[in-house]
Amino acid sequence: MFGSQAEVARAFQLDRAVVHNWVKTGYVPARWAGEVERVTQGRIGAVEVINEASAKNPVRVKSRPDHALFGMQESDPMTQYAPAKRIHSFHPPQRTLMGPGPTEIHPRVLITMRQAAIGYLDPVFVEMMEELKSLLRYVYQTRNPLTFPLSGPGSVGMEYCFVNLVAPGDKVIVCVNGVFGGRMLENVERMGGIPVVVSDEWGRPVDPQKVEDAFRKHKDAKLLAFVHAETSTGCQSDAKLLTQIAHKHGALVIVDAVTSLGGSPVKVDEWEIDAIYSASQKCLSCTPGLSPVSFSERVVEYVKKRKDKIHSWFMDMNLLLGYWNAGTRTYHHTAPTNSLFALHEALLLIREEGLENSWARHQRHHVALKAGLEAIGLQFLVEEKYQLPQMNAVLCPKGVDEAEVRKRLLDEFGLEIGAGLGPLKGKVWRFGLMGYSCRPDNVMLCLSALSSVLSDMGLPVHVGDAEAAAHGAYAQMHAKDAQRKKRAA
Ligand SMILES: Cc1ncc(COP(=O)(O)O)c(C=O)c1O
Repeated sequence: MFGSQAEVARAFQLDRAVVHNWVKTGYVPARWAGEVERVTQGRIGAVEVINEASAKNPVRVKSRPDHALFGMQESDPMTQYAPAKRIHSFHPPQRTLMGPGPTEIHPRVLITMRQAAIGYLDPVFVEMMEELKSLLRYVYQTRNPLTFPLSGPGSVGMEYCFVNLVAPGDKVIVCVNGVFGGRMLENVERMGGIPVVVSDEWGRPVDPQKVEDAFRKHKDAKLLAFVHAETSTGCQSDAKLLTQIAHKHGALVIVDAVTSLGGSPVKVDEWEIDAIYSASQKCLSCTPGLSPVSFSERVVEYVKKRKDKIHSWFMDMNLLLGYWNAGTRTYHHTAPTNSLFALHEALLLIREEGLENSWARHQRHHVALKAGLEAIGLQFLVEEKYQLPQMNAVLCPKGVDEAEVRKRLLDEFGLEIGAGLGPLKGKVWRFGLMGYSCRPDNVMLCLSALSSVLSDMGLPVHVGDAEAAAHGAYAQMHAKDAQRKKRAA
């Protein structure tokens, strides 16, 4: 396929012995596959190379004979710990992920992730960490030096903010307008803080007037915490305005940007946000398990001045600085290296696309999806001006078995959408359009699959109407773009 071993070695600037070894063992490292993609300028994808190599020469692992593995030999002391069934390697099915996250992962990110492991203090890895931090500053739109990914999902980012910023007895104004505001409240309580709850109806944004009133009533409040993009409802709150209110009253803010980061504007410096966290598996379209965070200098100083010890060893900001700070780099915990490779690539994809183009893409496909859903009579939970492009919650039509609809979408079309949570359980469906999942083919598949299932289940839905409405919306947006380009020329 690529010529002689010598030619390959020359093309990829590799030692011939290395190429010989790969050919002999049939093992194709991801790096080589990546090189093939680069050298052929994308004509041959790295995924194709790896797939072809694995098909020709699957990696063989020496295993015990079946009778020893599956309970035939009672005397084998190991068998009592394994179920008496044949267990195969796990190969997940191909799904279209349009729920509240995780999202589909770009092939480039998957390829990056499967590369050979290296140590987390390896100089090459350390160099990558610095790039990762600068890419994160880009997506967060901040110059904060303390911007890095925590090892753990979004919930770890949330807990990290509260454990470092809330000392026992601190008063915290917490806004609750959905599931995740409720989790913030849990965190304040568990840290021994005194919560002041500002509640809003699920599906409504946080009311800035209520926040202002709470600060007037509780002059000793030190913090304001709110969710920028409430995933449970698809509603967006005004992070800039809420931060201004907190600062006017001398408080710091903690912002949940788990669903917003990468999908809609999050401007940490311009909005003067103090502490913010997100997650890797939503609009960043990476593997779950990492939580990018960013803290202003004000927060670092605030935490340093705390008189008590932070109530978590793993999450103590002062200790973790030793690993993520450029100068020091000492062992804190074993970093999830391959997941961090993946995040580096996922962020690089956003950098290449352009952050504002990524926001615009989420908006564009949201408009098309919305046109389609509304064309078959579905209603959005949230008022238009507060709707999140990346999370679309619609009310389930009366009398329909909502769980059955989701099941049929998954079984018949391999399409995953989200269910309602808490008081919205059984009442809404949530359609995610996040990151790599936010594509026109997904919009079209979703509309046609949903229309077919609803029509099959006896609802008055005409198959084809939703897709036609989405096509119409795309056509209108293209026409507007074309006019804009013409005017600019
Ligand atoms: C707004 C919000 N905050 C926090 C979380 C928790 O993130 P994770 O599930 O990654 O722990 C989620 C997860 O969906 C979320 O949507």
